[in-house]
Amino acid sequence: MKILLTGGSGFLGWNFCKALRFKHEIYAFYFQHKLYLEKCNFQKIDIRNREDVFESIKKIQPDVVVHTAAITNVQMCDQDRELAYSVNVEGTRNLVEASAQVGAKFVYISTDLVYSGDGSFFTEEIPPNPKSYYAQTKLEGEEIVKSYDNYIILRLALMYGWGNVFTNSFSDWLHTELRARRKVKVFVDQYRTPIYAVDAVMAIDELISKGVKNEIFNLGGSERISRYEFALKFADVFGYSTDLIIPVPMDSVKTYLAGAKDCSLNINKVQSILSFKLKNVEEGLNSAKKS
Ligand SMILES: NC(=O)c1ccc[n+]([C@@H]2O[C@H](COP(=O)([O-])OP(=O)(O)OC[C@H]3O[C@@H](n4cnc5c(N)ncnc54)[C@H](OP(=O)(O)O)[C@@H]3O)[C@@H](O)[C@H]2O)c1
Repeated sequence: MKILLTGGSGFLGWNFCKALRFKHEIYAFYFQHKLYLEKCNFQKIDIRNREDVFESIKKIQPDVVVHTAAITNVQMCDQDRELAYSVNVEGTRNLVEASAQVGAKFVYISTDLVYSGDGSFFTEEIPPNPKSYYAQTKLEGEEIVKSYDNYIILRLALMYGWGNVFTNSFSDWLHTELRARRKVKVFVDQYRTPIYAVDAVMAIDELISKGVKNEIFNLGGSERISRYEFALKFADVFGYSTDLIIPVPMDSVKTYLAGAKDCSLNINKVQSILSFKLKNVEEGLNSAKKS
């Protein structure tokens, strides 16, 4: 299958390229961070540039577009709303309309943060109620995608695993800090259903290959856990001292995610389609350790 991936230099996109480059013909868009990976065709494109997006998609003629690119830093989205809107909303519009031109399936990576964050195990039927500008733009992106006639929307949970030199995920950060024996302050009262990045990639691939169409899925791991508990498991699996992990309540620091205390996902819908079991944190961390 010919796949056009946006965000090839990002955390998810990089994992996607690494895991699937020998299975599919992958064209990966990046913007500022150039990478090289055998069997992946990296291409510099600013998804805000409508003309470039149309031209490139017309030339590649992909069967599927997997759209992971976004401004993902919640604080940056709040402080530079124009940038967040132009990339996360207008960029998505450019890609959807260019995909329509060539009849490609469109897979949109959304976020668990579209939910209110004041419940637990959100199902896809619960109406979104984003509490950050970042999540608002991601939800607006969903609305654009839903106007297309061949899409999958995945509301993704916090990911962990291995990124590249440019990415800065929660697990990248934990690893760097703990390896340097620096103390980390982590929220004891912020809950997520974290997903191992390779599981996320495998789930995306399987949903595409099964021909799933016009559905929204939550995509997370099989365990609801606080960031603090996650960090303890991380330290345990990788052999770091748990004394370095300091539990703090969310209201002890100014955070742009104050409203998003518990965005844990109910993953029954996606799990009922997948041929493999989405991992819990300990299973996912052990897989990451072996990889
Ligand atoms: N990470 C998580 O835990 C998480 C959780 C829930 C949902 N998500 C969603 O999952 C997706 C992937 O997240 P991620 O963590 O992999 O993101 P990331 O590491 O922050 O990467 C973002 C990607 O977007 C690209 N990008 C930014 N502006 C662009 C522009 N104007 N034109 C083209 N590309 C542009 C970046 O390219 P350059 O770096 O080359 O500039 C980078 O490849 C996002 O849509 C995010 O909303 C992520």
